[in-house]
Amino acid sequence: MWLPLLLLLPLLLLIIKKMQIRKKGKLPPGPPKLPILGNLHQLGALPHRSTWKLSKKHGPIMLLQLGAIPTIVVSSAETAREVLKTHDLDCCSRPPLAGPKRLSYNFLDIGFVPYGYYWREMRKICVAELFSMKRVQSFQSVREERRLESSFNEQDVFFQKVIDDHLNSGRTMQEHEDIVNDISLAAIDTGALTMIWAMTELARKPTVMKKAQYEIRRCVGKKGKVTDNDFNQLQYLKMIIKETLRLHPPAVLLLPRETVSQIKIGNYDVYPKTRIAVNVWAIGRDPDIWKNPEEFLPERFNNNPIDFKGQHFELLPFGTARRICPGMNMGTAVIELALANLLYHFDWKLPSGVEIDMEEEVSITVGKRSALKLMPINYISEDDKTQGVAEIQFGNF
Ligand code: HEM
Repeated sequence: MWLPLLLLLPLLLLIIKKMQIRKKGKLPPGPPKLPILGNLHQLGALPHRSTWKLSKKHGPIMLLQLGAIPTIVVSSAETAREVLKTHDLDCCSRPPLAGPKRLSYNFLDIGFVPYGYYWREMRKICVAELFSMKRVQSFQSVREERRLESSFNEQDVFFQKVIDDHLNSGRTMQEHEDIVNDISLAAIDTGALTMIWAMTELARKPTVMKKAQYEIRRCVGKKGKVTDNDFNQLQYLKMIIKETLRLHPPAVLLLPRETVSQIKIGNYDVYPKTRIAVNVWAIGRDPDIWKNPEEFLPERFNNNPIDFKGQHFELLPFGTARRICPGMNMGTAVIELALANLLYHFDWKLPSGVEIDMEEEVSITVGKRSALKLMPINYISEDDKTQGVAEIQFGNF
């Protein structure tokens, strides 16, 4: 009597499992979770690294439960394409960056505002009014005159101008302030971190630094400063910036998104109100895409069509599609100009006995944990050969 029942048991279990799957859908794989915490305890201090490790075991579409929030982490170029291109419209909800409406802002934060009025206004300012290529070029003189001691004053003047420009647009003063705060948060940190990582990598590879300096100094000659017009010729510098953004994208998991409807990613079901993180840091280190991925090698972009403008899912430091960074033109123009001038005017060397620490630190963006200290040696001015009179500190003042 028991034998037929025992034989039927596996079949019954299979039917129950299938019914559960049909009810829940087929969810992406992920690590087992603890009650209440879910997988929060597995994130650690550097979530881009911990999720990268987990994805090697569970795959490029992985489901984590972060407290109460189901979160999908995608870690390959193909899955990024599915989320950011195929399902762009279904995955574009986002929280505000700052201001009184700010709900705080990183991978773990909760609370989203939909893709709506606020973000449309922000993009309008960035794309159409402030940072279009035409406008970026028209700020050339402001950028070229971006000196350290006066940069804060300039920033105030700059943002005051933005506010003045928009006073008649029907927005309230509070809305103006929120939008300008958000833009400055998104703009300043990312650019500064990219500069610090670029100088760090160059200090570690003096041959690359010398090659860049040779290109810049040959092109600019004794003109005294690098200007926007020189940039078409500075191809190696552009490769250095690409390579820096491949290894050190400041927004390692892009900015968090949330699904607004039920979608399928791969063969898996993803429900509305699921958070989506795209690990662009991991994609930039994927050995299936990049040869010797950990090596800083700007030459890999020689005769290589991959660019960071949102068309190539292998390299997405600015995101892509509807939510692509609206400050991309401005950001790259400022980094090019600042880096080119630093390399044109000075040779840089490490103070004796100093070793470069490559440890990262996560806040909203991922930066270098400790400051980079380098000694500048004036190259241009003959009568001012101030050889390493002081160390310059990049970051962590
Ligand atoms: C190296 C420089 C920069 C990097 C690497 C960078 C990167 C990013 C990334 C990854 C995103 C999210 C894209 C996504 O989720 O798909 C973003 C969004 C944004 N960035 Fe940038 N950014 C930079 C500079 C700037 C600058 C200079 C500005 C403004 C002047 C700016 C304004 C914004 C804004 C407003 C958003 C939110 C856009 C939205 O949600 O629709 N960024 N940025």
